[in-house]
Amino acid sequence: MQTTILEPLFNFENLVKPVHHSNGLTGQDIISVSQFDRARLAYIFSRAHEMREMVGRVGSTDLLRGFILACLFYEPSTRTSASFIAAMERLGGSVIPITQGVQFSSVSKGETLADTIRTLEQYADVIVLRHPETGSVQIAADYANVPVINAGDGIGEHPTQALLDLFTIQEELGTIDGLKIAMVGDLRYGRTVHSLTKLLTQYRVSLRFVSPEILRLPLVIMNEVIDAGLDVRETHDVADVIGDADVLYVTRVQKERFSDLAQYEEVKNLYEITSELLTKAKQKMVVMHPLPRVGEIHYNVDSDPRAAYFRQVKNGMYIRMALLAAVLGKA
Ligand code: CP
Repeated sequence: MQTTILEPLFNFENLVKPVHHSNGLTGQDIISVSQFDRARLAYIFSRAHEMREMVGRVGSTDLLRGFILACLFYEPSTRTSASFIAAMERLGGSVIPITQGVQFSSVSKGETLADTIRTLEQYADVIVLRHPETGSVQIAADYANVPVINAGDGIGEHPTQALLDLFTIQEELGTIDGLKIAMVGDLRYGRTVHSLTKLLTQYRVSLRFVSPEILRLPLVIMNEVIDAGLDVRETHDVADVIGDADVLYVTRVQKERFSDLAQYEEVKNLYEITSELLTKAKQKMVVMHPLPRVGEIHYNVDSDPRAAYFRQVKNGMYIRMALLAAVLGKA
């Protein structure tokens, strides 16, 4: 009889360095970036590196085999939903996807968020929730007995996006401290900007906010930046920041957030990053965008090595793998 020598299953533990501190995330809801200090960020980033190495070598592992994620999205999504699903599946877990529109769930029959959450927790070990109302994810988490992760709550926060944004800056430029970071576009309603700005108050960075008057950063977040003692300036013109920015974080003006569409029409096309504009930028800098884009970055920028937005997309999967593993106690 011919003997088949089987390759040993990939041993994830070989890649995981010993963890000498508690990450403190096991069983926790992830609602806001305020839950992440620098030590916790370093931990998640280190785990994300391991996830990237594992995916590069073998594609998937069974670290979360037997765990189930419920993905509940009351607003459209491509990246956040798909990357959470990919993250869970690459770690060997399974997913209940309610991401193609809650109109296909019992929400369309009038079921409340609370009852929907209390139902999904009967099946799942962790719930990822996107909802149009600020504060809704915290409310859901208060009802749930399993961890709830905020995938965007209205104009509030998008903490996992901010984690992947910060990780991308560090990966691209090797540091965060000392950088000049310019945020462009819809700073008023942009939850990715809100979360990233809050996280950056933990670093020694200079912040430049570029927006039309009606889309300025909310005062409450600006006050956090000022209280942190950061060098900060606001302008309406990208030309004021393009020459010395290390990071240009561009955002979409979000039509869905405007109650007055005439106001949206006034500001929707104010900024466009083009290859011509980038001739005025540093050679070592990055252009980022949480995506989707609808005209803020011209396609002629995509081939520029400084265009980091699709690398940023991929980092999202590694960060969410790290986060799911931590929340589910597989540190
Ligand atoms: N960045 C982001 O949240 O993208 P999606 O809306 O596609 O999830």
